[in-house]
Amino acid sequence: MNILLLNGPNLNLLGEREPEVYGKTTLPELVRAVSAHARARGALVRARQSNCEGELIDILHAHRRWAHGVVFNPGAYTHYSYALRDAVAAVRVPTIEVHLSDVTKREPFRRVSVIAPVCAGRRYGKGVKSYLEAVDDLMARAAKIGRRRGV
Ligand code: DQA
Repeated sequence: MNILLLNGPNLNLLGEREPEVYGKTTLPELVRAVSAHARARGALVRARQSNCEGELIDILHAHRRWAHGVVFNPGAYTHYSYALRDAVAAVRVPTIEVHLSDVTKREPFRRVSVIAPVCAGRRYGKGVKSYLEAVDDLMARAAKIGRRRGV
């Protein structure tokens, strides 16, 4: 199983950006943790990060035939990017929306996700663990579909 790990704006600064909210783990450390978790379960991770909406869309498009699942932290775009929502819907690759922080308990604007309705699931509030759980969700989903198809 191929998993695209996609991180949006400002997540390149993980580790130094508001560590009291997002933790001290850097993006390279997060990528290593997610990749190791996936590898131990037989999945391959390709990690990308961009601060630009259009680039995130291009990355989703480019991986639509490679990825069997996407673990996506859209950062602040979560709350207002209809273009990213449309991209997730367009590529039709099961996507889990993830957040390090508990967006349901922060400022009102963060409680809104325009991406969630087109995602297969959502994990948030557990730091790096949110990402690991998202990998598990994708793998469980794939296994379930495989069982249904008798594979
Ligand atoms: C975030 C939450 C968003 O509201 C914020 O804009 C981020 C990070 C998180 O991982 O908790 O950039 O997606």
